[in-house]
Amino acid sequence: MKIEYNKSLKKYNTFGIDVIASEFAAITSESELDTMLAKNNKNPIFILSGGSNMLLTENLDMLVLHIAIKGIAVTETSEKHVSVSVNAGENWHDFVQYCIKNNYGGVENLSLIPGYVGSAPIQNIGAYGVELKDTMTSCEAIHITTRKKHIFLNKDCKFGYRNSIFKNDAKGEYIITKVTFRLTKKEHILNTSYGAIENALADQGITKPTIKDVSEAVIAIRKSKLPDPSQIGNSGSFFKNPVVDINHFTKLQKTYPNIPFYKINEEHIKIPAGWLIEKSGFKGKRWGDAGVHKKQALVLVNYDNATGNEILNVSKKILTEIKEKFDILLETEVNII
Ligand code: EPU
Repeated sequence: MKIEYNKSLKKYNTFGIDVIASEFAAITSESELDTMLAKNNKNPIFILSGGSNMLLTENLDMLVLHIAIKGIAVTETSEKHVSVSVNAGENWHDFVQYCIKNNYGGVENLSLIPGYVGSAPIQNIGAYGVELKDTMTSCEAIHITTRKKHIFLNKDCKFGYRNSIFKNDAKGEYIITKVTFRLTKKEHILNTSYGAIENALADQGITKPTIKDVSEAVIAIRKSKLPDPSQIGNSGSFFKNPVVDINHFTKLQKTYPNIPFYKINEEHIKIPAGWLIEKSGFKGKRWGDAGVHKKQALVLVNYDNATGNEILNVSKKILTEIKEKFDILLETEVNII
């Protein structure tokens, strides 16, 4: 295992922010991880996975462990189902493609999400009506200070909308090393109710879609509105979609009769933050190299050399304006470091 000093993290975060790690090691096995944790027991450590859900605003004067443990294995199989265990350093989309190739159903709607498998449970990644929690059975994690392995079952993870125990009670305590999924081998349960998927399939005249068709539809939709991080730095949705109470929503609806919404329950309504941001005039705006994406206002972008603080300033402008205009305080989805 190579330890590097004063290493730029620009290539290790999808926002493409150029901060320096004073010490950096790419971890390729659990034993390497154990060695490094034992050696650095008393010092702060920063865990870096695919770097796809973070905004780095300062240099990291500490050891950065990049979790790059690879490997996918079928651990159990029955007539209709298969359990697949995936090591944390596998690229999420590569794992989805592995499932499509082997005809394992359940994660096709999550095609093309950037990042690594190991960080997927932290924010319970989701798209087009499906979340990680729908197929994840368990994940293995190493406790950073005791170095003991802990198995979290799905129910232990306290999954919510872009949320889990790893963002709350257990924040910063564990390193996820492996995630296990239960997937279908046949009679796949497709989730095509999300409007854009239905339309994409209908446009192609597909009436009985396979999981590959769904995956391809999702890829086409994502490519049409979300920037490719290898071309334009970004971390996907920067904010969560806010949930407001029904009275607040009814008031907004009087002023904005076309406001899009999803009913959560009798008292709560979710509003797409992208609409609020667009309505406030931010879509496509740019300040130097930091800006708001032209096709999806929920995505903040680094056109080239923006600093983390420049992106953060754009997010603050948005927060202030949305609070003033709609009396809604947006919550950041991306982790600000
Ligand atoms: N909208 C606008 N203007 C915009 C963007 C969106 O008016 O610039 C409105 C439109 O009415 C649209 C609605 O917002 O119909 C919803 O937009 P979209 O389908 O693009 O989804 P989203 O709510 O903005 C969420 C997730 C995405 C996920 C998509 C699809 C969050 C924070 N984001 O976005 O997840 O891909 O749904 O399921 O929940 C991510 O988490 O990084 C991410 C990209």
